Amino acid sequence: MADQYAHSGDDKRPTEIPAIRWEEPPEGPVLVLLDQTRLPAEEVERVCTDASALVEAIRSLAVRGAPLLGIAGAYGVALAAVRGFDVDEAAAALAGARPTAVNLAVGVRRAQSAHEAALAKGGDVRQAAAAALAAARQLHREDAEASGRMAEHGLALLDELLPGGGHRILTHCNTGSLVSGGEGTAFAVALAAHRTGRLRRLWVDETRPLLQGARLTAYEAARSGMAYTLLTDNAAGSLFAAGEVDAVLIGADRITADGSVANKVGSYPLAVLARYHHVPFIVVAPVTTVDLDTADGASVEVEQRPGHEVTEVTAPQVPVVGAEAGGGIPVAPLGTQAYNPAFDVTPAELVTAIVTEEGAVSPVTAEALAEMCARSRRV
Ligand code: MRU
Repeated sequence: MADQYAHSGDDKRPTEIPAIRWEEPPEGPVLVLLDQTRLPAEEVERVCTDASALVEAIRSLAVRGAPLLGIAGAYGVALAAVRGFDVDEAAAALAGARPTAVNLAVGVRRAQSAHEAALAKGGDVRQAAAAALAAARQLHREDAEASGRMAEHGLALLDELLPGGGHRILTHCNTGSLVSGGEGTAFAVALAAHRTGRLRRLWVDETRPLLQGARLTAYEAARSGMAYTLLTDNAAGSLFAAGEVDAVLIGADRITADGSVANKVGSYPLAVLARYHHVPFIVVAPVTTVDLDTADGASVEVEQRPGHEVTEVTAPQVPVVGAEAGGGIPVAPLGTQAYNPAFDVTPAELVTAIVTEEGAVSPVTAEALAEMCARSRRV
């Protein structure tokens, strides 16, 4: 296919966009988020002074993506503690803000446990709050490190599966520095391929209905200077049929004990296409996304989002008259019901490999995943 479809990649601003940061101005500690609902039109920050503001930011997807949700959840607990709110109440609200990405509950629990442990040791509320904040900061650092190691392992796997470079990689949703303490998961692997001259093109699924691919992955790809091309999700089939995809790289919101992968809706159809066309389907996620307590894909709670995300097109900068509940421009008859799951589940048998900071698991089996998690916890 002609290179006319490739973005020129001439926007070379840094890829390290701080998606989240803790600040301590004189008025008191705050959590500052890059508001992802406003990208790519504008880089606007949201300042959260309490956990309920963060819960709202999580629900509205101002902050999103599994690893970042974990980091945000941990900082949210610290924020509640530092500002003297009820920590258990805040933790419950944060952990329940979105159900599918296991990282959120894991991050919340980590800061909450640190808080509890400090109190149990006889610390006062100030020391307990400091312990919660230290746990959040540690998780943030660990995620950044994990991101670097996933990129290394992912690149090594691509070399093994696709010797010779010149990769044309298809990705779905958004998995770069906007969702991570580092450069992300699947996107970090594509970035490593780009930096080492192995990436010919990144195919970016727009990711209906909230357009994380078009708004966020294209934004990150443009800033990295890589050649990328945007497609509607339903164009992926013809792209495979034309032999234009060498590998699929996606992230994950929850990987269950049997190796099933819950990720942004539209991932499963890509896995089916990849299998039919003999293309590797690779999932990149930190160990914190592996949930051995959830037995299988059928046990994953898939978040159902409001129908107006499908029946309306939202353009925040455009004033809208006569819109439905979401404040967007209606594209379906008023009153139309919509099916709008935020995620789908891909069974392990369709996944070529799961790459974590510990390395690649392939073939994906319950035993291999459990062994990888045990190894990770021993370190
Ligand atoms: O609804 P979102 O935007 O939070 O969904 C995000 C995804 O599905 C990502 O692919 C997933 O969290 C992996 S991010 C490394």
